[in-house]
Amino acid sequence: MDNKSQKHRKMIKLETKHISCGVEAAEVAALAGAAQQANSLLHSGEGAGNDFLGWVNLPSSITPEEIEAINLTARGLAAKAEVVIVIGIGGSYLGAKAVLDAMSSSFHFLNKKRTTPYIVFAGNNLSETYTAELLEAVKEYSIAAIVISKSGTTTEPAVAFRLIKAEIEARYGKEEARERIAAVTDAARGALKTLATAEGYDTYVIPDNVGGRFSVLTPVGLLPLAAAGINIAELVRGARDMEVATAEGVPFEQNIAAQYAAARNALYNKGYKIEILASYEPRLQYIAEWWKQLYGESEGKEGKGIFPASVTLTADLHSMGQYIQEGERTLFETVISVAQPEGKVTIEADGDNLDGLNFLAGKRLDYVNKMAELGVVLAHVDGGVPNIRIEIPAINEYYIGGLLYFFEKACGISGYILGVNPFNQPGVEAYKKNMFALLDKPGYEEASAALKKRM
Ligand code: PA5
Repeated sequence: MDNKSQKHRKMIKLETKHISCGVEAAEVAALAGAAQQANSLLHSGEGAGNDFLGWVNLPSSITPEEIEAINLTARGLAAKAEVVIVIGIGGSYLGAKAVLDAMSSSFHFLNKKRTTPYIVFAGNNLSETYTAELLEAVKEYSIAAIVISKSGTTTEPAVAFRLIKAEIEARYGKEEARERIAAVTDAARGALKTLATAEGYDTYVIPDNVGGRFSVLTPVGLLPLAAAGINIAELVRGARDMEVATAEGVPFEQNIAAQYAAARNALYNKGYKIEILASYEPRLQYIAEWWKQLYGESEGKEGKGIFPASVTLTADLHSMGQYIQEGERTLFETVISVAQPEGKVTIEADGDNLDGLNFLAGKRLDYVNKMAELGVVLAHVDGGVPNIRIEIPAINEYYIGGLLYFFEKACGISGYILGVNPFNQPGVEAYKKNMFALLDKPGYEEASAALKKRM
């Protein structure tokens, strides 16, 4: 490990002292062996779902040339378009959305001097209203598209792409459309691969052994982020350092991914069935959405698994705060705390003090936020809600990259401790089968007849 990596090894901190209202430290320590063994299985490839472990060493295997190729395509799209439409759903959407939001000002839409294209997302729903609004909204802007689907057969992005491809071709012609559309899909299979090859789009591959929800550090996440002007090399560097910090052989006491996985399983075993991911930074809202998919789809199976929920604080203290404080005692909370805010806001003294806030005069707003965080943690602990704290030094590409990999590694370890295959999602197929049957898709006649009897 070089000095730079060493320096950042403890960049993200995990604190579990406030889980003692739910589990004893000894109960977490009792899972240390299982966590270490689970981590070893992720590295040896001898556990369940071992054909989907490409993400484990992904950050360290991405080459500067691959980053440069992605940046080149992204710059090409950004040079042509004021708006880049990113089409995808689930793991082919949430990672890019999460990092983009984390790295963007909450008021980016008011920026008159923007030098990068607007990024808008499509194909993550089937709403006619949303799609009509999107097509209308981009009318005044030059556009390009990135279409992402590992299977290449998912209905939502396929429908959206059909519409957006038609719009791009109608505006610019088929030839020019080729320069304005990039695809990210499977190396060989699926309708999107066939289409991208036939049309001659710039195409990136999602490795076979990386599942959708673990794919943010492949072109699935990196291409849209690069188009938005995000420093993807830094994102990957942060993930790479976290890969080292959570590798096989790192002792449990130093491996925050193993500790987090052990702590949440110890809590689950004691009846804490719901984990709320909380943050005091609105920009991190979609990190929580990404995390919900990662953990929900990986662990929620065979009648088991912690239900992942999220809140953005302090806003949700005024909506969900009551339940968290006094509702059913099956919750624990994991707080992402950001040590260093961006920008500087100091509360000034007011001569009249009509609002009675002069006791805050001279204080940074971030200090008030941090005191709120501490006050909430202690109140929730008093109310019987165990608390895990993850501290990131700041919101930037490097630390967000580290955070993403930390959650992925902990998720793999946690799923193995729980005793499930964290890398499949058999339950997702059930709705698709019904939807296709109800839409009379050829091949679904029998299911269609059965469903129609129940209507
Ligand atoms: O994690 C997963 O595998 C899923 O959420 C997929 O990412 C999602 O269903 C989209 O699939 P695809 O990329 O094949 O269109």
